[in-house]
Amino acid sequence: MFSIKILLVAGARPNFMKIAPILHVINQRNLSRLSRSESVRGEMRSLFHRGQKDQRNQINYKLVHTGQHYDPEMSEVFFHDLELSSPDIYLGVGSGSHSQQVARVMMRFEETCLKEKPDAVVVVGDVNSTLACALTAAKLGIPVAHVEAGLRSFDRTMPEEINRVATDTLSDFLFTTEKSANKNLMNEGISKKRIFFVGNVMIDTLLKFKAKANEEAKINLNGLDFALVTLHRPTNVDNKNTFKDLLQTLRMVSKHIPIIFPAHPRTQKQIKVFGYEKYFNVLSLNPMNPIHPKNSINLSGPLPYLEFINLIANAKMVFTDSGGIQEETTILGVPCLTIRQNTERPITIEEGTNILVGNDRSRILEESFKILNGKGKKGKIPHLWDGRASERIVKILVNHLNN
Ligand code: UD1
Repeated sequence: MFSIKILLVAGARPNFMKIAPILHVINQRNLSRLSRSESVRGEMRSLFHRGQKDQRNQINYKLVHTGQHYDPEMSEVFFHDLELSSPDIYLGVGSGSHSQQVARVMMRFEETCLKEKPDAVVVVGDVNSTLACALTAAKLGIPVAHVEAGLRSFDRTMPEEINRVATDTLSDFLFTTEKSANKNLMNEGISKKRIFFVGNVMIDTLLKFKAKANEEAKINLNGLDFALVTLHRPTNVDNKNTFKDLLQTLRMVSKHIPIIFPAHPRTQKQIKVFGYEKYFNVLSLNPMNPIHPKNSINLSGPLPYLEFINLIANAKMVFTDSGGIQEETTILGVPCLTIRQNTERPITIEEGTNILVGNDRSRILEESFKILNGKGKKGKIPHLWDGRASERIVKILVNHLNN
């Protein structure tokens, strides 16, 4: 008999698809334990209530949303698409400088930890909320589990790299997605005993929802081949000339294939500030308003998860500076050109469909034309990216926290 209480943290868009499969596994596990240990007399439904205390053999959890991303299309729609119930605790920290954001999460999360007294805190990814909650828990002596540990771009100018290194130093359970991450952690002196190679939770979500995305997506692709673009890194969109050069390069590509560009709030803001609306056509989700054919960059706001992964699955190629999209394209077998100088996910290059092109125009065009001529990179699926990473994580946590 045991009862474990954990807090699971999500704060920004790329966190929701990583935390969702862990929650689904816990819910399933709780339900099956309950039905085994109690005689089912219609009581099951009322007995099973997440967060309820002192349930034998149950994992009691609460989902904490820090509120780092707060616009409905960056947060709420993901709860709907990923079949997540609303967060139990909302910290509402909002935007600010990095230090303000981290400090606000820490102050509010400390109160949460003191009240809830969890046995462990689970954080995912590399955003400011990840670091802030790991640091808060570690200072209170609460074990920290970091999902997607050990990834390194070796570029300390990226805020995410600082978050990764610091979170890993503070974590007691380091769950990795690829073998390079194990090596990075050991090089930093982290004990092998704390490192668990489990696979990729984001891929758990992708494999679970791929078919549903295909059924429910609404964007009218007008029967056209298209390329998909996402850009939001400060290095690409905060500098007026760099951003302009990238948009001009994309316009050259769009002469051969229409482009769909769902823009992050930071990117939308920069398009307005620099007056770059002239590079775009407007894409609406209204099925009566299909994508424009050639010579177009179709701009939309951030898209819901199902809509977006359906676009990746159907794209001829993807241009991105995101982390997770490099992995999703590898699984979906779609060529990906990463507009960055480095990647913390080298397996997507070694085994997947990813190529680093930086922001160099000739390199971007050269690789784009190869893909348009049918010579895109064909990858294979990395080890343990099999849809079962969350099961492995939950099993390891139960075994260790239960002792
Ligand atoms: C964050 C993550 C990044 C991740 C990205 C994905 C960090 C350090 N960075 O970057 O790793 O790839 O999320 O989305 O945590 N904003 C809104 N509405 C929102 C959220 C943000 O308008 O719902 C605005 C903010 O006011 C700010 C900008 O977008 O101007 C950036 O938001 P922020 O969360 O600070 O970082 P991201 O660039 O989104």
